[in-house]
Amino acid sequence: MLLNNIKEVREQIKEWKSSGLKIGLVPTMGALHAGHLSLMKKARETCDRVVVSVFVNPIQFGPSEDFDKYPRTLEADTKLCEREGVDIVFAPSADEMYGKGQRLSNDTLTYVCPPFFYVNKLCGKTRTGHFDGVCTVVLKLFNIIQPDFAFFGQKDAQQVVIVRKMVNDLNVPLQIVQCPIVREESGLALSSRNKYLSEEGKKEALVLSRILNNINLCFKKGITDVSALKETAYSFLTEKHDMEYLELVDKNTLEEKQQADADTIVLIACRVEGVRLIDNIYLGE
Ligand code: PAJ
Repeated sequence: MLLNNIKEVREQIKEWKSSGLKIGLVPTMGALHAGHLSLMKKARETCDRVVVSVFVNPIQFGPSEDFDKYPRTLEADTKLCEREGVDIVFAPSADEMYGKGQRLSNDTLTYVCPPFFYVNKLCGKTRTGHFDGVCTVVLKLFNIIQPDFAFFGQKDAQQVVIVRKMVNDLNVPLQIVQCPIVREESGLALSSRNKYLSEEGKKEALVLSRILNNINLCFKKGITDVSALKETAYSFLTEKHDMEYLELVDKNTLEEKQQADADTIVLIACRVEGVRLIDNIYLGE
C-alpha cells in the first residue's frame, strides 16, 4: 500500500497497534537496491508489519550536494517493496513532511542536533549540518510511524551510531537494528550513488573495499599501530581516487584510536569520477 499522507499512515498504524502487532520501520531515500532489501527482509523476520519510508530529505543535503539529481524511482521502488512483503510504502512530499511553504532553515524549523563530538569527524567534517538533517527526519519518522524496531545499514556506520545516541539520549521507545553491508560480488558496497559511476568508475571504486580488506588483513597479522595501518592505503591510490578520509575509531563511540583492537571500525570516504563513496569494516571480521 502506497501512502503519501501522515494522517492516513497514522490511522493504519493505530489499527495495527490496537491489535498488538509489532511494527518495523525501514527509513530510505528510495532508489532501492539489494542493500535496502536486506533491511526489509530483516524487518519482515522480526516484525508483524513493515513500513518502508521513501523520502529524499532536503534538509540533510548541503547546498552543493546532489539533492536535485538524486535518483527518484518511486514506481520501481514500490514494486520492489511489494515483492518483499512490505505493508506500507510511506512516500510523503516535502510539504507533507515539513509543512507547506515551510522555509527549511534552523531559524524557522525545530532541528534535532546530535552532539559535536559525534559530528565533527568522518562524514560530518565535510557535510556540515548533514546529521542534524538526518536526526530531524528520522525522529519525525519515528514519531509518525511509532515503530517497535527500526532498521539501519552498517554501510552508513556513523549514521547508525548517531541515531542510536539520539534514541538513547531522548528516550525514544524503540530498538535500532543494524544490518550488515551488502556488496556486489566484486566487493563494491551497494549504494544508490553507484548509479552515477561509469563501468570504468565502478572498477576504480573497488579501491575502497580493497584498502579496508588490506587493513583488516594487516591487523589480523598483528599490526595494531594506526599510523602504520593507514600507511598501507597509499599503494592502492592513484590520481583517479580523491580520498576524503580514512579513520580508525571505536565502533560505539567514534573515538579515535591510536592502537587498533577488536572494537575498531575502519571508515573510508573517497571520490571516484566526482562521486563521493563511503565504506567501512570492523577489524577482525
Ligand atoms: P539511504 O541512503 O537510502 O539508506 C537507507 C538505509 O539503507 C540506510 O540505513 C543505509 O545504511 C542502508 N543501506 C544503504 N546501502 C546499503 C548496503 N549496501 N548494505 C546494507 N544497507 C545499506 O541513509 C539514508 O537513506 C538516509 O540518511 C535516511 C536514514 C533514510 C534519512 O533520510
